[in-house]
Amino acid sequence: MLKVRIAVLVSGGGTNLQALIDAQKQRKLRSGEIVLVLSNNANAYALTRARENGIKTEVVVKTERDNEVFEREVIRVLKENKIDFIVLAGFMSILSENFTSLYKNRIINIHPSLIPSFCGKGYYGIKVHEAALKYGVKVTGATVHFVNEIPDGGEIILQKSVPVKNGDTPEILQRRVMERAEWIILPRACEKVCKDIQREMKEEKEKENL
Ligand code: GRF
Repeated sequence: MLKVRIAVLVSGGGTNLQALIDAQKQRKLRSGEIVLVLSNNANAYALTRARENGIKTEVVVKTERDNEVFEREVIRVLKENKIDFIVLAGFMSILSENFTSLYKNRIINIHPSLIPSFCGKGYYGIKVHEAALKYGVKVTGATVHFVNEIPDGGEIILQKSVPVKNGDTPEILQRRVMERAEWIILPRACEKVCKDIQREMKEEKEKENL
């Protein structure tokens, strides 16, 4: 069956991208194929991970003022590569409604907390874990959700909880959330959504052939 063409959008280290690549190798991710890794940061180590695994890479850099130009270029690259499905894996740029409405139910994101806690504008990277520790929660985790115009506001696909332990620093907690939640649920959610898209694509093709 035709595989869903996946683009993974990254900005940094790419450990979540690595989890997706590993899942693909192990055939846990099999309804889709990562055909493109796009970064808004030319120095992202995620790009090296992609190249080492024979995956095409593209860099689109964003300057402060021109979000519209930036998004237009990203969309052009996605179209050029016939992308069906987008995974945001540590992508440090909020996408506008103009963008998200073009790919309705076709973009997912991994967020390092149990949404609706510690999410939305300003909650990214280590700040999420600092906020969780400051609040004193005893359980945190990660969430994979669809992306719409509201930051971290789209429908939840999967969540996994992780305990907070005495003496945790934001860095220790971040690592635990990655290892025990993010790297597990992102590939799972990706396969789940790709399976649904694959089914839709098949139905559309059948309709065309009627
Ligand atoms: C992860 O914590 C992810 O949840 C957040 O950004 C971080 C990216 O890490 N959105 P990596 O680039 O996948 O290693």
